[in-house]
Amino acid sequence: MNKTFYITTPIYYVNDKPHLGHAYTTIACDVLARFKRLDGYDVYFLTGTDEHGQKVHQAAEAKGMDPQKFTDEVSQNFRDLLPPMNISNNDFIRTTEERHKKACQALWKKLVASGDIYLSKYAGWYAVRDEAYYGEDELKDGPNGTKIAPSGAPCEWVEEESYFFKLSAWGDRLLELYEKNPDFIQPDTRRNEVISFVKSGLRDLSVSRTRLTWGVPVPDAPGHVMYVWIDALTNYISALGYPDENADLYKKFWPANIHMVGKDILRFHAVYWPAFLMAANIPVQKQVFAHGWWTIEGQKMSKSLGNVISPYDLIENYGLDQSRYFLLREVPFGSDGDFSRAQAITRINADLANGFGNLAQRTLSMIAKNCDGKIPSHADFTAEDKALLKEAHELLIPGMRREFDKCAFNRGLEHFTKLVYAANAYIDVQAPWALKKTDEKRMQTVLYVLAETVRCLAIAIQPVTPDSAAKMLDQVAAPPDQRAYAHINAAHALKPGTPLPTPEGVFPRIQTEEKAA
Ligand code: MSP
Repeated sequence: MNKTFYITTPIYYVNDKPHLGHAYTTIACDVLARFKRLDGYDVYFLTGTDEHGQKVHQAAEAKGMDPQKFTDEVSQNFRDLLPPMNISNNDFIRTTEERHKKACQALWKKLVASGDIYLSKYAGWYAVRDEAYYGEDELKDGPNGTKIAPSGAPCEWVEEESYFFKLSAWGDRLLELYEKNPDFIQPDTRRNEVISFVKSGLRDLSVSRTRLTWGVPVPDAPGHVMYVWIDALTNYISALGYPDENADLYKKFWPANIHMVGKDILRFHAVYWPAFLMAANIPVQKQVFAHGWWTIEGQKMSKSLGNVISPYDLIENYGLDQSRYFLLREVPFGSDGDFSRAQAITRINADLANGFGNLAQRTLSMIAKNCDGKIPSHADFTAEDKALLKEAHELLIPGMRREFDKCAFNRGLEHFTKLVYAANAYIDVQAPWALKKTDEKRMQTVLYVLAETVRCLAIAIQPVTPDSAAKMLDQVAAPPDQRAYAHINAAHALKPGTPLPTPEGVFPRIQTEEKAA
């Protein structure tokens, strides 16, 4: 019973408001965390905020605020969002916390001691006005041989002292890591991209800045703060108590089972992070999974287009559980997806309202009317009954597990919808409303089989739609301590005679007609 599972979201930049993209990563992690808990794992689920660096500093200045005060506020926005999204994280890490700075500095010292960090010069095109370096290819020519940044700011060639991490020395060991652990980077297409990037040759990485003050101070190097990515990535171990390698959480949960990230930040997690860890002689994470990006009605989500969807909009327009379901059901997790209102409504109505909701509603209202509001008793099961119960008891969870273990949430959920459709087809064929007049015992058996199927479906779908599933389980009077995946079997089936509450619809239909303006 010591199966553990450590899962992390990226830590979010505090220079932006939480939106659908952030919610997506966090919800996916939450679903997997809940799935694993129900499946008997001891789970640790971490999320948090990334609070250092130039952009955050600038955002604070633009508001005339002290950066610490500013980050306190914005970080709180991200934290406040977790309960309304029903996120079951175990901890929330902030990179401005002491425990985190301590971990970064300890990791840094290890990298210095192993000879992987050295002092040199960083050179590049720098815009004082933007406080940023730009790549040559981003710049336009200005008058008299000057260079102009995309923002319009003039750039100058500057050199500054910087510490470097010897990333170039780690290429072969990274390739060996990917080779020996084919699942280290998922999905496979992303894995191949990273492998060719590493094969093309790695350059040493500048890991400190002197033109910036808002960051973790480099130990024994006044004037230097750490480059944001070495700081940010370390959150995954600082939250477990590193540098104390005997800390309970660290011993129990490191290395992480999965770092879930968007495709844009895969390289940092699949190349830099394992290189830092190997250099510091710390075990590397087991997997990085890069998910795709959402566009909105075919367009990139952006402030200037005014199409940014906040998680609160989702909850208000579609319902929380419905939104969680749609985001994971609609698009394969590694692919990009488009969020369209029409598609969201179609999917939610088909699978949840007309599918699962209707199945439960039909079953439970017939039981309320015809079986004295109690779980009916049943006679011997027919082949059709047995086939449906077998799907529910024996095939549903293994099918979902196979796919969820690969983060193929959409395919995992197909096992759920498949059983919903099978049960709706069963009810139509068996027609318990007709049996009422001809064979009451058989009607009871059919309703029993249906209620038991609803129980199993509700248990299975808990990670994705936690509140609605709990309501559904209350409706079939499933004992609260028997709602784990281990309880989906005949031994824990509904007990005839158990009184049921008055049935209530759980997944309302979303009206498709927009109200006239
Ligand atoms: N702070 C870094 C991560 C450091 S992790 C050690 C960062 N933060 S972020 O706030 O910009 O992005 C966080 C996550 O949101 C990323 O995984 C990113 O892919 C995701 N998304 C942002 N916009 C998105 C969409 N439009 N669609 C899907 N996910 C997107 O990067």
